Amino acid sequence: MSPYAHIIGWGMAVPEKVLTNADLAKRVDTDDAWIQSRTGIRERRIANSEQTTASLATDAALQALEIARLNPDKLDLIIVATSSPEHIFPATACLVQDRLGASNAGAFDLLAACSGFIFALNMATQAIRSGSLKNALVIGAETLSRFVDWSDRNTCVLFGDGAGAFVLQASEERGGVIASVMRSDGSGGDLLCVPAGGSFAPASLETVAMGKHFIKMNGREVFRFATRVIAQATVETVEKAGLKLDDIQLFIPHQANQRIVEAALRSMNVPIERCVLNIDRYGNTSTASIPIAACEAARDGRLKAGDKLVLVGFGAGLTWGAALAIWSGAPQQPGARPALPLPLRLRLYARLRSLLRRILRRIDAWIWGRYV
Ligand code: UT7
Repeated sequence: MSPYAHIIGWGMAVPEKVLTNADLAKRVDTDDAWIQSRTGIRERRIANSEQTTASLATDAALQALEIARLNPDKLDLIIVATSSPEHIFPATACLVQDRLGASNAGAFDLLAACSGFIFALNMATQAIRSGSLKNALVIGAETLSRFVDWSDRNTCVLFGDGAGAFVLQASEERGGVIASVMRSDGSGGDLLCVPAGGSFAPASLETVAMGKHFIKMNGREVFRFATRVIAQATVETVEKAGLKLDDIQLFIPHQANQRIVEAALRSMNVPIERCVLNIDRYGNTSTASIPIAACEAARDGRLKAGDKLVLVGFGAGLTWGAALAIWSGAPQQPGARPALPLPLRLRLYARLRSLLRRILRRIDAWIWGRYV
């Protein structure tokens, strides 16, 4: 029988800096009443100059590993879902792998915009279910504030920075992620995009002058699409698991707009009380929004071991998808908990390991250089 992929650790990281609607009203022609009534957002977090997608991802990952009581060298796989990677390459996941000292993990990025966390969760789950690996780290991390045009009121009020992470572990016991769906429709690719900076339109003086490295969005079209696919993906996933909507204790949707979530819930006859909403404090953190909301639900006691939850996302691409999971809770270890290096010690160890590997690579190059 194929093993199940249990969620045994979760973590989140958001920058300390808060940007309120009133702050934004000083930059563009908007106001708190419009933003709150049209989106549900009151404030969002913005990374400082030291914080990057990889640093937020690493902070969230360390918390998740701490809850899972898992040493990073036990990880077989790291997937970072992000729409704001540090570079086109190397993958942000490799930077995280190095900072964690996860010496046995393959690491790669996954790009499915705001649906990225759902897609990554599904990929890691399928890898575990195939029996090919035991422990996986799935992260959604963003510094979208670096891709926002702060003079465009249509988009700048929406986005925020942050990261969230899950640790998945193989187990014979039924549980964890038990059903999921993933869908795409590239015909809507132009509705939400960053037009330049890729191979289609490489960075040039012209692309920069035209603001083509910023997020462009047709809000109304994305709104319509989103309300439709949230319900579609949720119902399909619940049916795939052989369950009914009433069997689900908690719905955790991508936090893009409170009105989108409310409309989708109405169409499924699901009361808002069974849904996690934290968009008022973080705005749209893209791939990070679902794991951040899950972390807060677990912290607030809204998610208990055995609960069934649906995670559902949508975004640029267009992409959408959902996953149904049975919440496993933190691992119960009888007796003394195994010693796990504290995050600070882990960070120092990882940095030392990284430095040693760089030195060894230099020595290696020097030795080989003498013979070729
Ligand atoms: O992760 C997925 C990413 N994105 C989304 O999910 C976004 C989906 N779309 C939305 O959330 C909404 O469409 C928005 C919040 C972006 C816009 O809300 P809306 O109710 O669809 O507004 P609208 O685009 O229909 O615009 C209504 C009016 C327009 O003025 P006119 O043309 O009627 O005179 C806009 O110019 O509101 C204006 N407007 C604003 N006014 C004050 C647009 N942005 C603002 C603003 N402050 N920030």
